Amino acid sequence: MPRAATPTSNRSPYYLTTPIYYVNDRPHIGHCYTTLVGDVASRFARLIGGPERPVFFMTGTDEHAEKVAAAAAKQGMSVQAWADRNAGEFRAAFDALDIRYDDFMRTSQARHKAVAARLIQRLLDQGDIALGDYEGWWDPSQEEYVTESTAKEHDYKSPVTKKPLERRTEQNYFFRLSGAPSRDPSRSYAELLTEHIERTPGFILPEQRKNEVLGRLRQGLNDVPVSRRVKAGDPAAEEGWGILMPGDAEHRVYVWIEALMNYLTGVDEATPGQAGRGVFWREDARVTHLLAKDILWFHAVVWPAMLIALDIPLPTTVYAHAYFVSEGMKMSKSLGNFIEIDRLRAYAEKYSADAVRWYLATQGPLGATDADFAHGRFVEVYNADLANGLGNCASRVGNMIDKYFGGAVPDPRGVHAWTAQTPQGASAYDWPALCREAVEKAESAHAAMDLHGALRAGSELISRVDAFIGETRPFSIAKLADGETVSSGAERMPAKDALAAILYQCAEAVRVATLILSPALPAKTHGLWRAWNCDPTEPDAENPERPRRFRAPLAELAEFGGVYGLRPGAALGKPEAMFMRADPAEAAPGA
Ligand code: MSP
Repeated sequence: MPRAATPTSNRSPYYLTTPIYYVNDRPHIGHCYTTLVGDVASRFARLIGGPERPVFFMTGTDEHAEKVAAAAAKQGMSVQAWADRNAGEFRAAFDALDIRYDDFMRTSQARHKAVAARLIQRLLDQGDIALGDYEGWWDPSQEEYVTESTAKEHDYKSPVTKKPLERRTEQNYFFRLSGAPSRDPSRSYAELLTEHIERTPGFILPEQRKNEVLGRLRQGLNDVPVSRRVKAGDPAAEEGWGILMPGDAEHRVYVWIEALMNYLTGVDEATPGQAGRGVFWREDARVTHLLAKDILWFHAVVWPAMLIALDIPLPTTVYAHAYFVSEGMKMSKSLGNFIEIDRLRAYAEKYSADAVRWYLATQGPLGATDADFAHGRFVEVYNADLANGLGNCASRVGNMIDKYFGGAVPDPRGVHAWTAQTPQGASAYDWPALCREAVEKAESAHAAMDLHGALRAGSELISRVDAFIGETRPFSIAKLADGETVSSGAERMPAKDALAAILYQCAEAVRVATLILSPALPAKTHGLWRAWNCDPTEPDAENPERPRRFRAPLAELAEFGGVYGLRPGAALGKPEAMFMRADPAEAAPGA
């Protein structure tokens, strides 16, 4: 049975990868989306696990594909120069969205070529890879073979791009996926993988995707080509592009096979400069591959089979999200409706990078159904959640503290719960418990990769604060004369004390909510923490404006009125306006 990485707690090493993207073209919303999800998920892992937890988030580019060489040739550029330029475009796109990764893998780097060659050599030595003849249906747009049944089902057209499939015959090296691992031939890959997928909750997510993979596994497995014959006169080959098959200079390693291996390159301890990264691929680590449904088969079947052959633990989770579509239409070259990075950048300039992050993280296709990027919806979500939600709530609370307490955190005198009297009856707010519940909800949603759910725990806390203000009406209490009293449920207290307790509770609950919201809104929350003198992050010399390490795990940081809480008497300054309301009538930026 294959061993899998089985994380034990919120503190176990956390390794998250995105696909490495082809550099034939510039990035669009799809690439940015997956990488943003990775960024938010890994920021949550750091926040929840605290400073001791090893977290590693890697993205990068896949450079040896035929279509990359073809695009370079069309531009009259060397593949290297073309790949350098586009890899730079990907990095710039991720920067524009405030995405921070721990490593950016490029498959043309020496470290990757070395690791991939080493792993392939092992598979050759063991006999898991061998030379053979192959004839099959080749999908040129996806650079992969599809099975006879898939080809037939799609009328001999690409299941993804609908372009015609080609019949190809070649002598190639194959990975013997149709058989069994050489180190233990008693059970086939099909059996081993089916059993692993069925018995390991969370190995393939979302659940619907798991059933698709199991269905395809029942149709049987074909061998997978792992090499391409080097074509004479191919300029990319002459440039030395790609990875040669160890011991056979006539073959180049098929791009998909080496691309998958990048996930191991990133954490390879023997690679110079990477000491200590081995913790990220051990049985007690949480290893998550994030990708979209288009490339699930490679990640859920081909890659795990190679790992089984190599006797390396399987990843914990292969998470395949759905697609972003544009204004209700599938994005395609022929329709010319790709949402390019320039569009997203224009949105970030107008509404802030955090606002774009929020839309992608909460409205994106993280589940099994596609999601729409539509301007009208963007403005609606922005206004509801950010301008009228978090932004308005934080500024209301800040303004009242400014007006009634001279901008210093009021002293609640230990009163952390309140019962508001409403026309409908008494309504109780036990803030320490509400905050704990929000944290627990965020933690368990994050563990299931439900990032929208995790963020919702923060938004709901903000809504509670709004409701609390509506029910306790601090602005009315402020108008009461000295000597008047207010009921907090069981007891009555002087109006000024009641006002202090209510506003402290509001501000402290907003602080806790911003912790939970911070993985999606790193810049705006950091601005608020600094203004409110409650910055929970460790200083980060590399990026002082955007630290991502926290001083303690979320559960400790979020303790209501605890050591990291707002301190009575401390200055509570005004943050820069968080989110200005957007006018729905205004034209979409960058359109
Ligand atoms: N190079 C391979 C991956 C190798 S991984 C070892 C590849 N590259 S790609 O540039 O085509 O990127 C595919 C990935 O981009 C998808 O799996 C997904 O993560 C992202 N997206 C591309 N289009 C997308 C949408 N329309 N919507 C959401 N994400 C999509 O495949």
